[in-house]
Amino acid sequence: MGDKTNHIHSTNSNSIHHNDPNLKFDPPKRIVEEAYVKSFEEYQRIYEKSISDPEAFWGEIADQFHWESRPSGQFMNYNFDVRKGPIFIKWMEGAKTNISYNMLDRHVENGLGDKVAFFWEGNDPGDHGEITYRQLLEQVCKFSNVLKGLGVRKGDRVALYMPMIVELVVSLLACARIGAVHSIVFAGFSAESLSDRILDANCKAIVTADGVWRGSKLLNLKSIVDKALGICKEKGKPVEICVVVRHLSPAEEIVTYISHSNGIEDGEDGPVAKRPCGKLKINWSKGRDVWWHDLMQSAETVCAPEWLDAEDPLFMLYTSGSTGKPKGVLHTTAGYMLYAAATSKYVFDLHPDDVYWCTADVGWITGHTYVCYGPLSNGVTGIIFEGTPFYPDAGRFWQVIQKYKVTKFYTAPTAIRSLMKFNDSFVTQYDRSSLKILGTVGEPINPEAWIWYHKVVGDGQCAIVDTFWQTETGGHVITPLPGATKTKPGSATFPFFGIVPALLTDDGKEISGPGEGYLVFKQPWPGIMRTVFGNHERFETTYFKKFPGYYTTGDGAKRDEEGYIWITGRIDDMVNVSGHLLSTAEVESALIEHEAVAEAASVSHPHHIKGECIYCFVTLKEGRVFNDELVKELMAAVRSKIGPFAQPDFIQNAPALPKTRSGKIMRRILRKIAVNDRDIGDTSTLADEGVIEVLFSLRPKDA
Ligand code: PRX
Repeated sequence: MGDKTNHIHSTNSNSIHHNDPNLKFDPPKRIVEEAYVKSFEEYQRIYEKSISDPEAFWGEIADQFHWESRPSGQFMNYNFDVRKGPIFIKWMEGAKTNISYNMLDRHVENGLGDKVAFFWEGNDPGDHGEITYRQLLEQVCKFSNVLKGLGVRKGDRVALYMPMIVELVVSLLACARIGAVHSIVFAGFSAESLSDRILDANCKAIVTADGVWRGSKLLNLKSIVDKALGICKEKGKPVEICVVVRHLSPAEEIVTYISHSNGIEDGEDGPVAKRPCGKLKINWSKGRDVWWHDLMQSAETVCAPEWLDAEDPLFMLYTSGSTGKPKGVLHTTAGYMLYAAATSKYVFDLHPDDVYWCTADVGWITGHTYVCYGPLSNGVTGIIFEGTPFYPDAGRFWQVIQKYKVTKFYTAPTAIRSLMKFNDSFVTQYDRSSLKILGTVGEPINPEAWIWYHKVVGDGQCAIVDTFWQTETGGHVITPLPGATKTKPGSATFPFFGIVPALLTDDGKEISGPGEGYLVFKQPWPGIMRTVFGNHERFETTYFKKFPGYYTTGDGAKRDEEGYIWITGRIDDMVNVSGHLLSTAEVESALIEHEAVAEAASVSHPHHIKGECIYCFVTLKEGRVFNDELVKELMAAVRSKIGPFAQPDFIQNAPALPKTRSGKIMRRILRKIAVNDRDIGDTSTLADEGVIEVLFSLRPKDA
């Protein structure tokens, strides 16, 4: 691509009216030429088939996989209507398979053994490795045997609290191979959040690492795990096995040793050294803690997969719930596999020579489906990236794209927004001519960011896919197809195959044609979650009771005259901070635990980089003084209770909160105060209207 500075200036995004809802981009010709679906008419034809005959459509997808036995029951069997009885969703009942076999053995048997499954790119440029499909299979078999040797059996839950290293994918596939249920907790969650999740899932074992560098910051993961396991023990549910990967020391097989000139630094956890690191303090609990490399050394390299039923659990992953207690979203084997494979194939138009990079952490659903299962099921080469977009500088993403000649790239709007603040030369100095498809996920993308992504990153040559989906949906549900859909910046466009969306009014009536309402789905698809772990009633209440007969996403959406769907954001008490969903109740409970706080309420507030951030109102106990120091303490309380990514941006003093006469906090009013909007509407139900003026007068100056 070379130096495109002139070209970029000539297509300067400022000359485009970003918010023009009719601004439309055709799929680039070169993308159409090689696409599986080459026109909108073709998309519509396949879509119709996927809805009218799901068995034929998904049966064809299933044919590429190995089935130890075929389905004995109905291909798709479900009840989506609480009025007719308990909700259930089953795909390919009675079929037996194993997802790790399909991700690995199948490809090795088909001659892909020497193909690179993953390039691993470390936090530090130059710290890298790679692993082929055959090597990955061998590592997975070894770790499967290790887990079995430790007493982990089919159905047991295993927590993974790990950095973005190859061992994370090995652990996840090893669990899947032996039928254990992996429960990955993003390694940015606090010890308390980790222990909550381990306890709720009743995990038998945990896999972690000594520590990890994130940018210029060292995190002592093992010490967080120690604290979490301490809490589990106190609560009478000790975890007896903790496998620790030695990531900060040199002797890894697939990791290149890199020495650093700037040896010792002060990190958050005290004086520490750069990777590789001999100085990080690792406490060892004898009998519980075991080094990964000690166990792997003697492990057998062959492990027969456990043949699982189509509906056997594959993994659980916690997502925030509006009551504050996270929900263990449970996904099962066959349906999730079909859906991860099909969405990856069509949305990223995956072909054998692709180098595909999804920047998400495997600790989130995007990493599960589109770092691991989706690309592996299609036999492409993926990238596992440990670092951050800003380290060592804001050119890191584009440097990695040049290095591996990445063809399909998938990231979050928040990353795009924070990178577009820098000079475009951070992008244009690197060769991005390999790029074909650019994806986004996690939150609505503003048209400015979309256009910058398209013009500057993609040099106007790539298809942009804005993919809407959720932890619960398992994979993309509303998304363009790169060779078929004309895209409109800010619109996730149309339903994926098998998805039947509807927009509902407050009283549950379907809106036909253009309009705005609650986004729901009318029938199941293979990748939809099956239950909330240990709490099926919560599953039904959260997703199926508000509008009987539909799956409720919790998002609002608009449909324009041409049928394009525009996601407008959450309509419940959830906040989407940099693509991470948090419940306001979760943040409030962290604040209330502080001894100075009598009451707290938090709401979403727009943020130019993060999309949304958290704005809190706190009422202090008698005699307590609201000052900067207390604000710092409260922010720290949220960080340590939930994790650093949950830290509020604003905390304001609230001598009282606006409440109805029955005592319900009126969040609608708080949202207005947070953005200094005096158009607050009807206040007649408020117990004390005077409180509003007081709250406006106490807004932080920088808010
Ligand atoms: O509000 C929607 C938003 O993210 C929520 C799901 O969050 P989570 O389960 O953490 O999964 C994130 C990654 C799939 C949704 O309810 N969301 C996700 N993608 C988009 C989006 N909002 C608008 N546009 C998107 N493309």
